[in-house]
Amino acid sequence: MEKFSIEGPSKIRGEIKISGSKNSSLPILAATLLFNKPVIIKNLPKVKDINTMISLLRSLGSKVILSKDRRIAKIYNKKKIKTFASYSLVKTMRGSILVLGPLVAKYFQSKISLPGGCLIGARPINYHLDALKKLGMDYILKDGYILAKSKGKLKGATIKFPKISVGATENSIIAACLAKGITILKNCAVEPEIKDLTNFLNLGGANITWKGRTCKIVGVTTLNKTEYSVMSDRIEAGTFCVAATITGGNLDVLNFDAKIINTELNLLKKFGAKIKIYKKKLSIKGPKNIKSVTNIKTGEYPGVATDMQSQLMVLMCKANGKSYITENIFENRFMHVAELRRLGAKIIIKKNKAFVEGNTKFIGAELMSSDLRASVSLVLAAMVSKGKSIIHRIYHLDRGYENIENKLKKIGVRIKRLNYE
Ligand code: EPZ
Repeated sequence: MEKFSIEGPSKIRGEIKISGSKNSSLPILAATLLFNKPVIIKNLPKVKDINTMISLLRSLGSKVILSKDRRIAKIYNKKKIKTFASYSLVKTMRGSILVLGPLVAKYFQSKISLPGGCLIGARPINYHLDALKKLGMDYILKDGYILAKSKGKLKGATIKFPKISVGATENSIIAACLAKGITILKNCAVEPEIKDLTNFLNLGGANITWKGRTCKIVGVTTLNKTEYSVMSDRIEAGTFCVAATITGGNLDVLNFDAKIINTELNLLKKFGAKIKIYKKKLSIKGPKNIKSVTNIKTGEYPGVATDMQSQLMVLMCKANGKSYITENIFENRFMHVAELRRLGAKIIIKKNKAFVEGNTKFIGAELMSSDLRASVSLVLAAMVSKGKSIIHRIYHLDRGYENIENKLKKIGVRIKRLNYE
């Protein structure tokens, strides 16, 4: 197993290039199952979850040719695709459920393992299944698998999601592309990654339009040869902006459109960061003293991203005053709190609120990663701790942050990846 050793405190300066978005790449890769003609996807991030999705596509029969740097995938679907997605693959990445919609829409059947829960919550998929059922998919749950089929093509329908769900919105949009007739999806998630997905599908000949949280899909018979470059990762960009703010550093964040993290950038300005926005980059200068932002609550886009909650909590620990953060999306997304306390943080959890004491002096310690975003908050905290911290189980980080230690080293962080038994 590998671990990180980080010597703090560090001050970061320099520039960082943001990689492609994991959470945009996953639905787009799943949606390539709809295509008969070759599809080229560019700007893929080199992270484990993308490898898992590519392995899943290959196990279904897609021919996937990767460029040497693994950022470009050329995907060819043979006539007959398998429609079985095994537990071994799905259990490593819940995003695998996104192949359900395209498989049933294109091949009228699929046997796919139910994705388990994860540390941040039970992660049910009822909204996915209910929506696909309204499009004409029949299914039973047996031995931990979803046995799904449809009598020929899916049929367009009007569907209102009971709760906003990123994955359910994505699965339904992908499935509706090849359905007969018109599908109207109401109360959709509108994250930038979903717009990236619909831009990709429309480039391929789909017919998708948006009006607020309502998405209209007019079914088509086939999709064309397509080449598409995935958007940059807004959570990676936001994470590095928090890093600059917390260390009082100076950072140019390149290769992404700052307006997609406007909400988070406005928060960082309240913490005292100075931010200049250019066309495809931003410059951020962290404050000497971090101002306190009394309360933050996560919400569906354009609210504060839940995937930024743990990073912002670390910033609150260093701010000059008390504050609290409310997690409104997942029921158990405070796994990082116990670890931050090992560094000296004073945080009290009451239901979905974490009350944070400011002006914390972090002292380096051994820490355990638990999930992707909690792990990166430990890296941020270690960067501003006095002395050495060791972060175990960093495979969580490798799922969603490309080459993070080299990116951090380049901007002045004393971090090493160590192997140990
Ligand atoms: C996506 O997860 C992201 N994953 C998550 O990022 C992100 O945190 C989340 O959206 C919220 O923005 C990918 O895009 C691969 P949801 P998803 O469906 O689609 C409940 C990361 O770190 N719900 O919007 O699973 C659910 O339990 C990951 O990159 C149901 O009850 O999120 C949650 O409480 C973590 N039934 C809420 O809705 C359903 O059928 C929002 O979940 C579906 C969801």
